[in-house]
Amino acid sequence: MFKHETVLLNEAVDMLDIKPDGRYVDATLGGGGHSHLILSMLDHGRLFAFDRDSYAIRRAKERLDGQENVTFINENFAKMTDALKAIHVDQVDGILFDLGLSSFQIDDPTRGFSYMNDVRLDMRMDQESQLSAATIINTYSEADLTKIFYQYGEEKNARRIARAIVSERPMETTFDLVRLTDRINHGQKGHSAKRVFQAIRIAVNDELRALETVLDDALALLKPGGRIAVITFHSLEDRIVKHFFKRHSEIQVPKNMPLINLPVPKLKLITRKPVLPREEEMLANPRSRSAKLRVAERTDT
Ligand SMILES: C[S@@+](CC[C@H](N)C(=O)[O-])C[C@H]1O[C@@H](n2cnc3c(N)ncnc32)[C@H](O)[C@@H]1O
Repeated sequence: MFKHETVLLNEAVDMLDIKPDGRYVDATLGGGGHSHLILSMLDHGRLFAFDRDSYAIRRAKERLDGQENVTFINENFAKMTDALKAIHVDQVDGILFDLGLSSFQIDDPTRGFSYMNDVRLDMRMDQESQLSAATIINTYSEADLTKIFYQYGEEKNARRIARAIVSERPMETTFDLVRLTDRINHGQKGHSAKRVFQAIRIAVNDELRALETVLDDALALLKPGGRIAVITFHSLEDRIVKHFFKRHSEIQVPKNMPLINLPVPKLKLITRKPVLPREEEMLANPRSRSAKLRVAERTDT
């Protein structure tokens, strides 16, 4: 069975400053690594653990079997506020996001996330969802595909790849796409399909919009003194988190405005610079190499 190595485990949980009686959200349960550690620190507290992938929830339930103070929620974290409200929770002491995919999703050859296996184009985290990689590749316009590859993959050959897809489709499997990127990105550093696969995955799962939506909700859910910790794995995600934290931790005072009764920022930065995995972690788990952890605390305004 494929296993997920938790990234920045102690760093992220330490910075959440867990109180034994507090209420916490693990927005990205995955293999349950962070949740397991949080639960070991709770006494009468409670953990609400989200994952949009029902398979991840099933696995984590087995791993966390016997733990009483966890509630599993099989839902997109973008719907966190409503999902918590439905169980009468409107404030929490801390929220953790460990974005992206679990290793068992990437390594499962049937899910289509990896360019190393030749399978049906899929890439859905939530297997009930309608939109798959096949729909995007086989029905989107050349202009939309170009935009996706360029914006979500920072792919230099976005236009050429989009044009080739449109003229050669229908495409059925991951290797149909890999053969095409091999041809166009021939001789480039790294795997020819890396950026295109990242871009399609982000589009299939609407990952950046989910993150943008949930950050506002998370801020509203946090109690004063509560913390939000976010682990990102690529610059597009990190930029969203960094700007959000900056926007809510600084007050922009227009010139000539008297410096009295200024609003107080809603967040205080706990990490001025992102925390990166230690050298040993990067060596032991190459997937941790691009991880960045940012943490902020809700002020009492
Ligand atoms: C990197 S893994 C989390 C690993 C986990 N922290 C651990 O220690 O095992 C990310 C998980 O978040 C889930 N996920 C990603 N985006 C999500 C979203 N918008 N809503 C809910 N779950 C999401 C994925 O399905 C995946 O299982």
